[in-house]
Amino acid sequence: MSYDEEYNKWKNNPNSFWEKKATNIHWIKKWDKVLESTETHSWNWFPGGQLNTCYNCLDIHIENGNGNKKALIYDSPITGLKKSYTYNELLHKTTKIAGALKQHGVNKGDRVLIYMPMIPEAVASMLACARMGAIHVVVFGGFAPNELATRINDSKPKVIIAGSCGIEPGKIIEYKPMLDKAIELAKFKVNICFIYQRSICEAKLIYGRDFNLQNLIDSSNSIEPVAVKSTDPLYILYTSGTTGDPKGMVRENGGHAVALKASMEMVYGMKPGEVFWAASDIGWVVGHSYIVYGPLLNGCTSVLYEGKPTGTPDAGSFWRVISEHNVSVMFTAPTGLRAIKRDDPNGEEIKKYNLEKFRMQFLAGERADPTTIEWTEKHLNVPVIDHWWQTETGWAIAGNFAGLGLFKVKPGSTGKPSPGFEVVCLDNNNKEKPNGEIGSLAIKLPLPPSCSSTLWQDKERYKTSYLNEFPGYYSSADAGYIDQDGYISVMARTDDIINCAGHRLSTGAMEEVLSKHNDIAECAVVGVDDELKGQIPIGFIVVNSGTVTSNEIIIKETIHMVRNEIGPVASFRKAIIVKRLPKTRSGKILRNTIASIFDNKPFKIPGTIDDPNILVEIKDSINK
Ligand code: COA
Ligand code: AMP
Repeated sequence: MSYDEEYNKWKNNPNSFWEKKATNIHWIKKWDKVLESTETHSWNWFPGGQLNTCYNCLDIHIENGNGNKKALIYDSPITGLKKSYTYNELLHKTTKIAGALKQHGVNKGDRVLIYMPMIPEAVASMLACARMGAIHVVVFGGFAPNELATRINDSKPKVIIAGSCGIEPGKIIEYKPMLDKAIELAKFKVNICFIYQRSICEAKLIYGRDFNLQNLIDSSNSIEPVAVKSTDPLYILYTSGTTGDPKGMVRENGGHAVALKASMEMVYGMKPGEVFWAASDIGWVVGHSYIVYGPLLNGCTSVLYEGKPTGTPDAGSFWRVISEHNVSVMFTAPTGLRAIKRDDPNGEEIKKYNLEKFRMQFLAGERADPTTIEWTEKHLNVPVIDHWWQTETGWAIAGNFAGLGLFKVKPGSTGKPSPGFEVVCLDNNNKEKPNGEIGSLAIKLPLPPSCSSTLWQDKERYKTSYLNEFPGYYSSADAGYIDQDGYISVMARTDDIINCAGHRLSTGAMEEVLSKHNDIAECAVVGVDDELKGQIPIGFIVVNSGTVTSNEIIIKETIHMVRNEIGPVASFRKAIIVKRLPKTRSGKILRNTIASIFDNKPFKIPGTIDDPNILVEIKDSINK
């Protein structure tokens, strides 16, 4: 089937397209309708249907005689550990964790927060929640206690499952003290924690509240998968919004299973039994979709890699993993490849490994610069495919489709829309822009299966965030253009989100932290270009008149505050003191203009600027 045929098949009859895909999933009760949508742009996929996502990921493959096939390969250069888990073994771990959750009072619909490093118990914990119909809330390890507390307050978990520590190159990150602090900060009180003790750094457990996860796995009963509604949430994943309050993206069981399974073949061309590797973290959407659910739904082997592209131990780690585990298709963020290219510009490390089985390299998470794509293609000698993604969608909005006869890859473009997505490029008046002109990228409603249709217990915020700007469309908050061949290029965010090392960060949230400093009158945090991370945040700070604290100390304190309140993942390492911030006459800070000045890029002086002289002052402060 070619891309055009498949896309048109969807466009001509979306319900029949998704109905067919849904037959690849095991349903306990068939759905009443494929799609139910209302005038007010609410929609439900497969209402009336019942299924269990964990059953579709594990039990079904065992029942089909594949229990001894590898489900998960844990490769951890950071600890020196390597271990494979068959479908039987992964199910065993999963069902025991589910049993322990049940024993501690977790029921269908309850939330379980998971704050863990990249270890097999993290994957099994997610699947355990799915097995019992509990809703998992995974929080990335690089977030500080304050961020964790925000997520505890919003999701109100009955149990938290955490690791005693994470391991970063050259340092151990003790998770347990951060967890204790978060529980202390949170208004919602959590009474039960399961802690996985890593031998490198065992945590002190609080009697009566904390339980050793391994002991629970050893002693619990297994439980059977429960039937959940197609529209019941499988998970909540918090992602940066424009303020300090993260958005709790809700993923529903039915649509998610259908779209993710379909995407494994359509987008990545993966067959059951093949090895897929997403070098991401389970704390991000890519980790949810393509370390855990997608590969397992499709009966593939998934690689869980606890390491970095470089330094664990060298720039050949990715190629070692691909070669050693016979990876067919890999997915990473361009920043990882830029790190490798920086350390190994001539691709010498690549030559050391047999990459015979490796078919394709997929990229997403940030704009893939053509130089990195070309370097990777040249040295790996496989197609390098950029595709466009959001936490909100859970799978690719656009790409080049390995399962639909890859078409011409255009470096710099994220490809054509996935079947299921009608993407348009709009101007401020909701009119389509001519081909090649930059505008707001939006997706016609209803969104396809897997895409969130609400935020956790906040439908209204979902509407104001995504649906109100362009009536009838989902606003992606990405700016870009569509060329005459229908290829989509994603150029920048239209809000104050930045993509730093493939991580989605809110500069607004950083400004909120900076504003708490007693000596700061006002501030702006902007994303500027960075050769390795794509973008990094920089603070521009105006101090109160009469402040006696030195500029150096204020800057140091702000860096410390962001690290403490948001986490090291924010990569906030630089701030500049300025006399004033450039603003429009209505008082809006001209953040894009500041970023252009910093990056030495040409920019138009906005006609609405209050005082153009401030731009000169900003340039002087940067050059100081
Ligand atoms: N737990 C605790 N801390 C973490 C963490 C985790 N899981 N992940 C990152 N951090 C910390 C890092 O140790 C670092 O701390 P530091 O300021 O004390 O040095 C900080 O957060 C920033 O980390 P990072 O942004 O990863 O930068 P880096 O310089 O350590 O590494 C790269 C740069 C490019 C190698 C790395 O960002 C990378 O591998 N990126 C790929 C990202 C990715 O897979 N994204 C998923 C989307 S597909
Ligand atoms: P996240 O929700 O963390 O996956 O981040 C989503 C955002 O990352 C998108 O809104 C884009 O801004 C950016 N992004 C993801 N994939 C791409 C891509 N292939 N090209 C450009 N930007 C991308």
